[in-house]
Amino acid sequence: MLPLHSPAEAAGAPSARPAARPTVRTAEAGDLPAVARILEPYATRTVATFDEEPPSLDAWSARFADLAARGLPFLVAELEGEVVGYAYASPWRPKSAYRYTVEDSVYLAPEAQRRGVGTRLLSALLDACSLAGVRQVVAVVADDPAAAGSLPLHQRLGFEVAGVLRDVGIKHGRSVSTMLLQRSLG
Ligand SMILES: CC(C)(COP(=O)(O)OP(=O)(O)OC[C@H]1O[C@@H](n2cnc3c(N)ncnc32)[C@H](O)[C@@H]1OP(=O)(O)O)[C@@H](O)C(=O)NCCC(=O)NCCS
Repeated sequence: MLPLHSPAEAAGAPSARPAARPTVRTAEAGDLPAVARILEPYATRTVATFDEEPPSLDAWSARFADLAARGLPFLVAELEGEVVGYAYASPWRPKSAYRYTVEDSVYLAPEAQRRGVGTRLLSALLDACSLAGVRQVVAVVADDPAAAGSLPLHQRLGFEVAGVLRDVGIKHGRSVSTMLLQRSLG
């Protein structure tokens, strides 16, 4: 394991790089091993996700099937034929009155960061959410350097900070707060 200088460095967060031109498309079941590999270091080594164990392939398959059944989008980004990132929308909360509100999730492999891929993915996800009839999109962003790119990414695409939940996560022996961001698609 590499030394953990900071969570962002642990995940390989780089400086800005030349823009990339990813292919963004709907995810297929065959993409799920790559999707699982992308999240794995964030789950084990950072607080960017509050998953403490990387989801298994079976868990990804179940999530993929559930989102498909709900008509919610799950996208991947490819560079040179390799899946380097994913984004999906999942129900924000289970009670029925929340049915037009989703939470977005977007993760890139470290080598794909800061090249505009996240912007392309999330922008496409918002378009797909609109087509699916979604009215509000919520992002839950860890208040931590490991998620440093998430706040500017979401703000760039029109999300506004809706609040802060203090110390709602405990991971790697410390408390982590989250920022809630919201974008209306209406
Ligand atoms: C967050 C993430 C998806 C952003 O995607 P990306 O392709 O790196 O972002 P982009 O290159 O499209 O840049 C979008 C904006 O974020 C900024 N940004 C991206 N990474 C950054 C970082 N590490 N630190 C500071 N700013 C960052 C860019 O400068 C740009 O801002 P601008 O509009 O002011 O120019 C990606 O960095 C990632 O996977 N991070 C780790 C996992 C994570 O935090 N996921 C989100 C969980 S809520």
